[in-house]
Amino acid sequence: MKIISVVGARPNFVKIAPFIKAIILYNSNLKSKKEFELIDHVLVHTGQHYDERMNDSFFKNLGISRPDINLGVGSGTHAEQVGNTMIEFEKVLKLEKPDWVVLVGDVNATLACSITAKKENIKCCHIEAGLRSGDMTMPEEINRLVTDRLSDLLLAPDVLSVDNLYKEGNDKNQVRFVGNIMIDSLDDNITKAGKIKIQDIFNENNLIPDQEFDLSIFDLDDFGLLTMHRPSNVDNKEKLCSLVPFITNELAIKMKIIWPLHPRTMKQLKFFGLWDQVIRSKNILVLNPINYLEMLRLNLGAKIVLTDSGGIQEECCITGTPCITLRKNTERPITLVANGGVSVLVGNDIEKIRKEFDLAMEKRKSPFRPELWDGKTAARCLKEIVNYNK
Ligand code: UD1
Repeated sequence: MKIISVVGARPNFVKIAPFIKAIILYNSNLKSKKEFELIDHVLVHTGQHYDERMNDSFFKNLGISRPDINLGVGSGTHAEQVGNTMIEFEKVLKLEKPDWVVLVGDVNATLACSITAKKENIKCCHIEAGLRSGDMTMPEEINRLVTDRLSDLLLAPDVLSVDNLYKEGNDKNQVRFVGNIMIDSLDDNITKAGKIKIQDIFNENNLIPDQEFDLSIFDLDDFGLLTMHRPSNVDNKEKLCSLVPFITNELAIKMKIIWPLHPRTMKQLKFFGLWDQVIRSKNILVLNPINYLEMLRLNLGAKIVLTDSGGIQEECCITGTPCITLRKNTERPITLVANGGVSVLVGNDIEKIRKEFDLAMEKRKSPFRPELWDGKTAARCLKEIVNYNK
């Protein structure tokens, strides 16, 4: 059997690493039984994320080898990214002729490659199927809907996603509840991340120069962690111009904040004239994009996380760090406090953020593991593919 799996952007790498390891283990078990119907696996990177810090460092951290094929698509508008990916991926499919294309997550690479594969009559498997925010202004929601509609095998991370897929009329044979593959990576790496000294993260490579933050008086046991990259937060001038002063002048005074910056966010802060305000703050430490282990280490050490990332909401469930989610909705309701998790939705509403931040300052870490977030999801994914239609 030949499988092509696809990655494009940073969160994809974290999701595909356990799947690749499951294939390696599967093949070595077969070899030891002297059975030789091995899985031939090809990893295709669309090239959507390309910077060393958004890309190579993740492959190194996660212990997986470099992609076999890189389509080199890079940045662009949505139509450019999706269109260019489809053109390049079609060439790969015609040459490689896989039995399956495996897609993870909800980025533009996921959408583009699912459409291309189905048009070539190749079976598609979507890992992380069934997540729905109901928010059609999110590019990811469109990517999720199309990919799920086209996929032959829908592997869902939680029971709420399974319900969504049934409600949309999917065939029960197509839908499988396998758990959250991102948590396989977390379980694999949490001990290693825990051994990193936080002060070692503040190195020359990560630190943005010329900041007024004084590292010599920083209490490493008392900080919040902020990440923000969604267009709904960072591309809107009015919203970003009200969030940033509120964070620097109010939240960061209550508790120092570490802020690893996504390239999109860095660009927008500069564009909207907010850059000086951020790097002049004595209470916010801004970093370049950090690697997977460093992020996990900061999550473990932080008292509070503020984020608009879906993956970080999930990781906070396992680390137990109270998570203030800077979004009005989430495709991952399983992570919400109301469902046993640690995340609360605040959008970019200053009043709500203030209230939840004050509450979170008093909270302790309270880890929560949804059903089947047990570190064994990748093996279940592979089993479903191998046994499909058997
Ligand atoms: C993409 C995903 C989003 C995911 C995020 C994780 C889509 C629609 N969005 O958003 O779901 O949460 O990745 O990071 O697929 N850039 C660089 N270097 C890079 C990559 C990007 O400088 O290696 C800059 C470019 O200026 C680019 C901008 O960041 O225009 C945005 O990158 P893009 O890949 O379009 O989307 P993300 O915001 O990263």
